[in-house]
Amino acid sequence: MKITVIGSGYVGLVSGACLADLGNNVLCLDVDPRKIAILQQGGVPIYEPGLDQVIQRNVAAGRLRFTTDVAESVAHGLIQMIAVGTPSGEDGSADLQYVVAAARAIGRAMTEYKVIADKSTVPVGTADKVRAAIQEELDARGLSHSPAGKGLEFSVVSNPEFLKEGAAIDDFNRPDRIVIGADDERAVKLMRDMYAPFQRNHDRLMVMDIKSAELTKYAANAMLATRISFMNELANLAEKVGADIEHVRKGIGSDQRIGYHFLYAGCGYGGSCFPKDIRALQRTGEDFGLPLKILQAVEDVNHAQKNVLLQKITARFGNDLKGKHFALWGLAFKPGTDDMRDATSRVVMEGLWAKGATVTAHDPVAMKETQHIYGERADLRYAETPLDALPDADALIIVTEWKAFKSPDFDAVKSRLKQPVIFDGRNLFEPSSVQEQGIEYHGIGREI
Ligand SMILES: NC(=O)c1ccc[n+]([C@@H]2O[C@H](COP(=O)([O-])OP(=O)(O)OC[C@H]3O[C@@H](n4cnc5c(N)ncnc54)[C@H](O)[C@@H]3O)[C@@H](O)[C@H]2O)c1
Repeated sequence: MKITVIGSGYVGLVSGACLADLGNNVLCLDVDPRKIAILQQGGVPIYEPGLDQVIQRNVAAGRLRFTTDVAESVAHGLIQMIAVGTPSGEDGSADLQYVVAAARAIGRAMTEYKVIADKSTVPVGTADKVRAAIQEELDARGLSHSPAGKGLEFSVVSNPEFLKEGAAIDDFNRPDRIVIGADDERAVKLMRDMYAPFQRNHDRLMVMDIKSAELTKYAANAMLATRISFMNELANLAEKVGADIEHVRKGIGSDQRIGYHFLYAGCGYGGSCFPKDIRALQRTGEDFGLPLKILQAVEDVNHAQKNVLLQKITARFGNDLKGKHFALWGLAFKPGTDDMRDATSRVVMEGLWAKGATVTAHDPVAMKETQHIYGERADLRYAETPLDALPDADALIIVTEWKAFKSPDFDAVKSRLKQPVIFDGRNLFEPSSVQEQGIEYHGIGREI
């Protein structure tokens, strides 16, 4: 099948490469000429484990190409998959300008039937906006569909994406479910055909109305974020009452109705999805006269939690951190990605800098992206290895739970730090085993 993917970011590139891997002929479009140039030269502009190999083998097989040429991309795919960004607008609502621009471009250039599949995370009602934008462009070209059958037909479907950065290839290839929101059979049939190879083992495809599909994606992210904020709030209570949140986590996760996933206390969630999606869903609630009180609490708790490490640091070292130096492990918002959007590391570093401290940071893949965001500055240095970040530091701060941080040589850590103090924002270690090494340990929800 010929497929066009509009937007070659984390979702678009993974979707395009994985669909090409199944034998489809995929053309990925982006408006960013820098990204497309990197891809055309055999590189990959983002870090996602395994993505480079999938791209390379499909480019070599002639099934995957990249372009900035809109006319070419519209002509190519029977299915036009929109995977552009939907960042937060000023009022918290999802900014749909890129989605609508992509729709208009299709309307301006299409010359035959197309299915427009919205993979971007978009609020309820967006499919109608996409349909209207395309229709306006067709009307302007005198190509409206009429009972006489002269004009051009198209279908708009919602096809939200649930992949996780860091495990995106696996998630795309083995999805828990594939959601299709549609109101016409022709489009459903084509989407079923496209996803047929994912269905071999069992039926994962759920067809529903468009609005339910659009809401499903937000509901999923809102539920996951709620679990995180719930555990973070309980972790803070655990500290006050002298309990250990890790014991509590195991105690409740063993209940099959609750389960262990997404139940870790930590220093707050970030990333390209949860923060903006929570805000967008809240905004939808307000627009419909139904403020979502639970989500407001989720957001407030997370905002506070991103400052918890700073609070612990100032409680230990005082509010004035001039002359203090910190080692920081983990910049990316989570392991397995170089994505720094809304990362907790940014809140921690900016807070430390505002109080006069300096930082040496290490991250396995996100240092380049961090440099891109902050540029050269005297109060931020980078270390090539975790241990190289430690010399002269008054404490080690752990912000991202990369595997490589989980079993450090504590002797080496202790001997390099100026003061043997660890602030562990992800509860990577057992407090007693760190303390036995003569290291002062501060975790989340386990100050017992
Ligand atoms: N990143 C994730 O883990 C994830 C998971 C599920 C869903 N989503 C959703 O998928 C969407 C895309 O997210 P992402 O992380 O891939 O974003 P991204 O910022 O990595 O990529 C979006 C790309 O779209 C391009 N673009 C913008 N306007 C365009 C246009 N008119 N034509 C062609 N290209 C255009 C941008 O240049 C950019 O490269 C968002 O709605 C997001 O919420 C993301």
